[in-house]
Amino acid sequence: MLVSAKEMLNKARDGKYAVGQFNINNLEWTKAILLTAQECNSPVILGVSEGAGKYMCGYKTVVGMVNGMIESLGITVPVALHLDHGSYDGAKACIEAGFSSVMFDGSHYPIEENVAKTTELVNICNELGLSIEAEVGSIGGEEDGVVGAGECADPDECKMISDLGVTMLAAGIGNIHGKYPENWAGLSFETLAAVKDKVGDMPLVLHGGTGIPEDMIKKAISLGVAKINVNTECQLAFAAATREYVEAGKDLQGKGFDPRKLLAPGFEAIKATVKEKMELFGSIDKA
Ligand code: 13P
Repeated sequence: MLVSAKEMLNKARDGKYAVGQFNINNLEWTKAILLTAQECNSPVILGVSEGAGKYMCGYKTVVGMVNGMIESLGITVPVALHLDHGSYDGAKACIEAGFSSVMFDGSHYPIEENVAKTTELVNICNELGLSIEAEVGSIGGEEDGVVGAGECADPDECKMISDLGVTMLAAGIGNIHGKYPENWAGLSFETLAAVKDKVGDMPLVLHGGTGIPEDMIKKAISLGVAKINVNTECQLAFAAATREYVEAGKDLQGKGFDPRKLLAPGFEAIKATVKEKMELFGSIDKA
């Protein structure tokens, strides 16, 4: 059964570790992440961007697939199904479809409008026992067509949004989606500490988990980050393993063209990446 992310994140914050949000794209992705979470006895959050939701034939299809897998794979660790960077309408659609958690990304609205829309969604989620993530300060890079300039959140605005009763808060601290450029300045721990100071116990979310050096991840967790999002790294691992299989001509040998064989190395690569992140985030055996 899907659960809200609230309890797993409060536990992570108290225990000074982070729960990974891994974005899903299809059946192989979902199966790889769920099996790894179970093997690692770790809580997990499955992230679905609006674009990935469309790709997978809509939120209802995603809910059906994930619920079916949890049952047929015998998954007993806590799993939250979470809309990533949702619009106002997208959040409502996911709530309707059976997601257990949503993110409303109102970071591109003026703060008053972000507050108004977040408040409405917080009320709906609270009533239904769902978790909700809000964002302040847009996170740079490009994700599914959503382009952010990359900025450091204003700690006072973080406090304003945090006080609305959200479950978790994503604050821009110089992080960006996708690969980090050579000249990236690194995370702004100054901003993170200032945000933490204002929002107190609120579990903080670090987006753009791909390619952040391990010491920065650990420091971010020590400063209150309880959820870390990873997407691109699984995509890179899947693509590299699939490329290797094809370049070695394995799809031309025997029944190597069978999708169950062709996609297997990529599937294993996602599993290895997820496990590595769970180890780094400290969520192993925290189910
Ligand atoms: P990366 O693709 O950089 O790992 O970011 C993922 C993310 O933040 C999803 O919201």
